[in-house]
Amino acid sequence: MRVGVAKESTPGERRVSLVPDSVAKLLGANATVLVERGAGAEAAFPDRAYVDAGAEIVSTAALYESCDVILRIHRPNKVEADLCRADQVVVGMLAPLLDPHAMSGFARRHVTMVSLDAIPRTLSRAQTMDALSSQANVGGYKAVLIAANAYGRYLPLLTTPAGTAKPANVLVLGVGVAGLQAIATARRLGALVRAYDVRSTTREQVESLGAQWVTLKSFADASGEGGYARALSKEEQAAQQAELNEIIAAQDIVITTAQVPGRRPPVLVTRAAVEAMKAGSIIVDMAASDLGGNCELSKPGEVTTTANGVEIYAPTNLPATMPTGASIFYSRNISSLLLSFVKDGKLEFDFSDEVTAATVITFGGKVVHAPTNKLLHPEPAELAEPAELAETAELAEATPAPRAKRGARE
Ligand code: NAI
Repeated sequence: MRVGVAKESTPGERRVSLVPDSVAKLLGANATVLVERGAGAEAAFPDRAYVDAGAEIVSTAALYESCDVILRIHRPNKVEADLCRADQVVVGMLAPLLDPHAMSGFARRHVTMVSLDAIPRTLSRAQTMDALSSQANVGGYKAVLIAANAYGRYLPLLTTPAGTAKPANVLVLGVGVAGLQAIATARRLGALVRAYDVRSTTREQVESLGAQWVTLKSFADASGEGGYARALSKEEQAAQQAELNEIIAAQDIVITTAQVPGRRPPVLVTRAAVEAMKAGSIIVDMAASDLGGNCELSKPGEVTTTANGVEIYAPTNLPATMPTGASIFYSRNISSLLLSFVKDGKLEFDFSDEVTAATVITFGGKVVHAPTNKLLHPEPAELAEPAELAETAELAEATPAPRAKRGARE
C-alpha cells in the first residue's frame, strides 16, 4: 500500500495531514509513505524530517500517479481532483454534505472518498480519529490567545507597586469541545470566567474547570438528540438574547462557540449587546462563516471595530494558525482511521463496521454515504419544502453522528 501525503492548496492553510512521527506507524503496517515536496514546510516539518522518518519526497504528479491512498486536510481542488485516479482512496475533512455533487463527481470516476469529519463521535474507539474535536480544541485555545493579545489590559489579578490590575471578565458561550478549551485557557491566564450553554448537563464541566455557570431564567434546558443542543424556537431565542444582553454588557472578553449541527449558528450576541459593551472589549466569534455567526456584527475572516470601541474577531481557520500542534493531533486522527481499514497490509472496507459505514462517502463508483445521498436524491415530500431543503444542503455540517461524551481534551 502506497500512502501519499498531499501539500494543501487551500489559501491560508498551513497544516499537513501526516507528520513525520506518524510515518513509522504506517511503515509498521507495511505501507510505503510518499510526501509531496514541501507538504509539511509551513507546519515546521521540512522534507528532511520525512526522509529521516523513512518517507520518500515526490512531485505532485508522482504522488497522484503512484499512490493508493492520498491523505489531506481539505478536499482536493479542481486541479488535484483531475489528478486523482480510479480506485484511489482520498482521506480528509471532505465536508461531503456541503457539496454532495462534488462527491458524485469523485464517485463517477471511481475515487473512494473517506471523510474524517463524519466520524461517529459516540464510539469510544473512534475518539482517536475525531479530528473535528482535536481541531476545535486548538480553536478554543487560540480564540482566547487572540482575545488576550487584543485586550488592552491584564487578564489575571495583579498587585504591583504601581497599583492593582483587576482580573478580566471572560464569558464563553457554547460549551462543546471548543468552549471547554476556551474556558480552561482563560482560567490558566487568570481571568474570571463565566460560561453558558443551552445544555445544562455541561454545568458540571464548567464548574470543574473553575468557571462560573450562567443560569438564564428564560428556560432551563434545550438538550437535543445525541448529546447536541436542539435549535431554539424564535420566542426562546428572543428571551435568551434579552437575558444575555445584560450579562454581555459587563464582560471584557466574549468567546462564542455555539452551534447546532446542520443549522445556521444561533445569534447570541446582538447588535444591541455589542453597543452596550465598554470600549476596549473583545469578542471572538468562532462560529462565524459565510452562513452567519454567533455575533450579529461579525464578518468572517475580518476584524470589525465598532463605533463604541469593541473589537470583533471572526477567524475562520484557527487550527491553521497553530499548524504544528494542530497537525500533530490531526496526523494521529487520520493515521488511526486509515489503519482501522488495513487488514494484512491491504485496505479493506467492511461496511458492517460503524466507522467504515459512517466515513466512506463514495465507493465502487457510487455515493454510499446515506446523508450525502439524501441530499443528492431528496424524497418528493422534501422537495415540497425547497427553502428548507436548500438550507439543509447549504448548511449541513458533516457531523451527523451524535457525541456521547465531551471534555476539555488536552
Ligand atoms: P460542539 O458541537 O462540540 O459545541 C457547540 C456547543 O454549542 C454545544 O455544547 C451546544 O450545546 C452549544 N449551543 C448550541 N446552541 C446554543 C445556544 N443557542 N446557546 C448556547 N449554546 C448553544 O462544537 P465544537 O466542536 O466545540 O465547535 C464549536 C464551533 O466552533 C463550531 O461552530 C465549529 O464549526 C467552530 N470551529 C471554528 C473554528 C475556527 O477556526 N473558527 C475551528 C474549530 C471549530
